[in-house]
Amino acid sequence: MTDWIQRWKDNKIGWHRDVPNSKLIEFINHLQLSPGDTVFVPLCGKSKDMIYLIRQGYKVIGVELSALAAKQFFAENKIVYQVTQEKGFEVYRAVNICIYSGDFFQLTSQQLSNVVAVYDRAALIALPAGLRVKYVQHLYSIIVKGCRMLLLTLNYPQSQISGPPYAVNKDEVVSLYNDGFECQLLQCFNDIKNEPKFQRSNVDFIEKATYCLRKY
Ligand SMILES: C[S@@+](CC[C@H](N)C(=O)[O-])C[C@H]1O[C@@H](n2cnc3c(N)ncnc32)[C@H](O)[C@@H]1O
Repeated sequence: MTDWIQRWKDNKIGWHRDVPNSKLIEFINHLQLSPGDTVFVPLCGKSKDMIYLIRQGYKVIGVELSALAAKQFFAENKIVYQVTQEKGFEVYRAVNICIYSGDFFQLTSQQLSNVVAVYDRAALIALPAGLRVKYVQHLYSIIVKGCRMLLLTLNYPQSQISGPPYAVNKDEVVSLYNDGFECQLLQCFNDIKNEPKFQRSNVDFIEKATYCLRKY
């Protein structure tokens, strides 16, 4: 099991990018957001995608195990925040963003009551197979009907390199989200040429997929 807290302490955060994800920018329209809407970012790290969402005029609620990640997010983006304690979480709050520092699996629907959309980049694929099932079940239980989601996944031959990020193929996405979600594959392509770590391990391919889902 990945020790995420230790990875943050050791600054072993190879997944972090200093610019917003191009697929979020390309496909955000599928979330059908209106100004002021709230987007939930599970397992958010200190993602710049949250800054992108705020700058587009949306509000963000994130959840992240590591308090260090939350502190770095606010410090690096020069955002003034306040910290409170709420039901087992340290809550880092600023004007248009709130990060719950604690366990995603402890988050409740009340804490996400204003959420109309979810953005999952490197959350589902950060988890091993058994936990992915629980992740989807819990996510389903805390978001409202009609909630839309952008989901970014990776798929590669898992036997050739170990995760995280874990390989999650289309069949698994469809099966995980089969019960209670509409699921549309927006894009899928092999991006091995831009993945030196996977090339060095002689991985045959790495597919990057973007899905739009809607809870019904
Ligand atoms: C691969 S990173 C992705 C971070 C972010 N989504 C991004 O795109 O930069 C996964 C993150 O999930 C966090 N995490 C793992 N398990 C968690 C849990 N049960 N609850 C909340 N956060 C968790 C880790 O600390 C880590 O920051």
